[in-house]
Order: sequence, then C-alpha cells, then structure tokens
Amino acid sequence: MSRDFPAGFLWGAATSAYQIEGSPLADGAGPSNWHVFSHEPGRIAGGDTGDVACDHYRRWREDIALMRELGLGAYRFSIAWSRVLPEGTGRVNGPGLDFYDRLVDGLLAAGITPFPTLFHWDLPQALDERGGWAARDCADWFADYARIVAARLGDRVGHWSTLNEPWVVVDGGYVHGVHAPGRRDLAAAAQAAHNLLRGHGLAVRCLRAETRAQVGIVVNLEPKDAASDSETDRAATARADAYMNRWYLDPLRLGRYPDEMPALFGAAWPRFPAEDFAVIGEAIDFLGLNYYTRSVNRADPAAAPTGAAAVRQPGALYTETGWEVRPQSLREVLGWLRSRYGALPIYITENGAAFADPAADTDGRVRDPLRQEYLRTHLLAVRDAIADGVDVRGYFAWSLLDNFEWACGYAKTFGLAQVDGASQRRTVKDSGRFYRDVILSQGRALDG
Ligand code: FCB
Repeated sequence: MSRDFPAGFLWGAATSAYQIEGSPLADGAGPSNWHVFSHEPGRIAGGDTGDVACDHYRRWREDIALMRELGLGAYRFSIAWSRVLPEGTGRVNGPGLDFYDRLVDGLLAAGITPFPTLFHWDLPQALDERGGWAARDCADWFADYARIVAARLGDRVGHWSTLNEPWVVVDGGYVHGVHAPGRRDLAAAAQAAHNLLRGHGLAVRCLRAETRAQVGIVVNLEPKDAASDSETDRAATARADAYMNRWYLDPLRLGRYPDEMPALFGAAWPRFPAEDFAVIGEAIDFLGLNYYTRSVNRADPAAAPTGAAAVRQPGALYTETGWEVRPQSLREVLGWLRSRYGALPIYITENGAAFADPAADTDGRVRDPLRQEYLRTHLLAVRDAIADGVDVRGYFAWSLLDNFEWACGYAKTFGLAQVDGASQRRTVKDSGRFYRDVILSQGRALDG
C-alpha cells in the first residue's frame, strides 16, 4: 500500500478576513457584525478587537513572501463581505474588491493556489440589523454577494468555499451568544442554520453560472464518543452528534435533517418548506473538513441544548483551548464521512492547535514542540485515511499567523508564524519550519 500523499496534493495554510486583516473600515468598507461585537464591552477576552489584527490588509505582500518561505502550495483565506458590499446588498465598493483582486494575483504570481471562502463569520452589520441569518432573505443576499465576487475573481480562482463552519455561526452566534451577533434564541438558531444552508445552495448556483471552478462548503466535525455504555450516555452522545456533526451534512448530502433535531429544539423547530432541500442539496465538488478534536460525552440534563456534557480524559493532552489532542479521531471521521455520505473529494481546510509559545530564543527560533507534534501526528492520520481509500486532496494548517481567535482575542495562538503585536514582526516557529520540510519532502519528513 502506498504511504505517499497523492500527486497534486495541496499543501496549504488557512486564515480568515476578520482574524488577520485589520483596517476593518478602510477604503469604504462597511462595519461587519464582528467589528461591532468585538467593540462591545465584555465580549472578547482582554477587550481585544480586530482593528489591527495582523495588519494583513496592508502587509499582504510580506505575507505572501512568508507563504513562499514556508513552501505553501495553497492559501485559504476569506473575503470580507462588508468590504465588497458595505451595506451587505446593493452598492458595490470597488476598492474592497480590488484588495482581493490584488491578493489573488499576488498569490498566483507566487505559484500559490488561492482557496477563498466567501463567508467566514463576518456578516455586514447592516444585514444583521435586517435580521441576519435568521431572516429568510439572507440566503439571497449571500447569493448576490457570491455572484459579484465570482464575476470579479472567477477567471483566476479554481476552488471556492461558500461557508465556513455554519454550525459555529449558529451555536456561537444564535444559541449561546458568545459570538456575533450574540443572540440566545433557539427559534432564530433553527432558522439561521436553514438559511445558511439555503444561502450555500443558492451561492453554488451563482458560482456555477459565473465560473467553471470547483465549489464546496467547509464544515467542522468533532467525533462524539460515549463516556460509558449506559443507555443514557449513549443517547446523549447521539444527540450531541446530531447537533454538531449531522445537522448540516445530512441536509447537504441526504436531503433531510437528522431525526433528533425536532426533539432537541422542541417548539423552536419549525416546519421547513420541502422545496428548500433541493436548493440545499445542490451538487458540490468537494467538502472542506475542519478538524481539531473529539469529545467524550455523558448525559447531563443541564447541558443545553443537547443534554450531553463533555468529560475530560485523564492522561490525555489538551491544548490551550481545552481541546483533546486525538489524531486517530481524524482518521475515523474521514472514514465515517465516506461511509455515511459517499465518496466526495475532501480537503482538510483547517487543523491545528493553540499552545502557549515562548518568545524567540537568541538563535531566532520559536520552539513549539507540541504544535509540531500535533501537526505531525494529524498529517500521519490523514495519510492513513488516504491509505484507507478516502479521497483527501489537500491539507491546510490553521493558521498561517497567530491571530484574533474570536472570543478568546489574541491570547490563543495557532500560528505557524508568531506575530509580535507591537512591531507586527512575523517569526516562523519550529512547527512552520517542520511543515516546510514536510511539504518539500511530499510528506516523507513525517516519518522523522
Ligand atoms: C475554527 C475557525 C477558525 C479558528 C479555528 C481555531 O472554528 O474556523 O476561524 O478560529 O477554529
């Protein structure tokens, strides 16, 4: 059996607009809901905001040079909707589109495949004020935006992702209120999820009309294991799995919501128009998988909305975000995807770990052995999954840079390169150097 990564495998790193760009209102951009949310007192650890972030909006040339230094073959980034359409709909802001136009050209000139995502959580604030994703029209607003971006960049972009992690948008933004727009409303959450999915389907149609590119969607999956064999723990684990792993993929691939959903949401679960499922199920060319961890669950009626609580595993290694390091679950979830949803090309669109990093040593190195080992073992899991027969086409490390980690602010660092907040100096960490060796050796460096 071949232990190699397939020819043409894309080796990349990922970021998103609000997390790295800074200059959120530059050149005519409108505010996004994350801009507004992060400026509300108490929302973000340390009172951090994305006002400066990694200053990528101004330093993108330097960042492309960094990507070259790392040997990246691909770069996954997102487009800020409110730079393109400051009010979310209607008037197009030329300078906002120009930024991404230059970025795409810069990447192509550097031999790096651009892999843009249209929506990575930063909704134009003007649209949030019209109901955000809970409004049925939001799906159409998103499709119009997709058409505008594709018309401009579609001649040079070969891979488009519509949404990043709709589950987190809904769970963080509409169920628990810890992300923008900070709502806690189950009925709005059910609608938001449905409209994100409809928006995805409508955007796929627009992308098909404008381009001949590959089109996909990015989901996050977290395998759910039961803490015991008890009936209650197993039932709770099944609910947690429905809520996090099947809520989006079942309608995308099987044309229906999981059976558990109406019971989970109770009266907040509406009857959805049957014809919507044809839109949601529009054919895609690939699935993007963001994988970080698994969870082990026990029944806990106090844990809304699933009644499942995560149990810490003694002896396991946890990252700074409290996520268990568990590479074998990545191999397993890739196998599960194929058996439940059929063969579909897969890109690992995010994978990485937050660990506290030291400052650079006198020799200029940032020593981050835990992140390096995380990357190594997860890439081995990907290689094993490929040997199992799963069609994995590429891998994007999260993240190119230390950046604004949403509600955690800048305190949690995932970067292959360290970013000094004051000077904006980038320093490639040992994990980044290791990743370059992996890329240059087509994976052989994983065997050490
Ligand atoms: C994912 C997000 C990404 C980043 C990582 C750590 O859920 O897509 O923006 O925050 O987690």
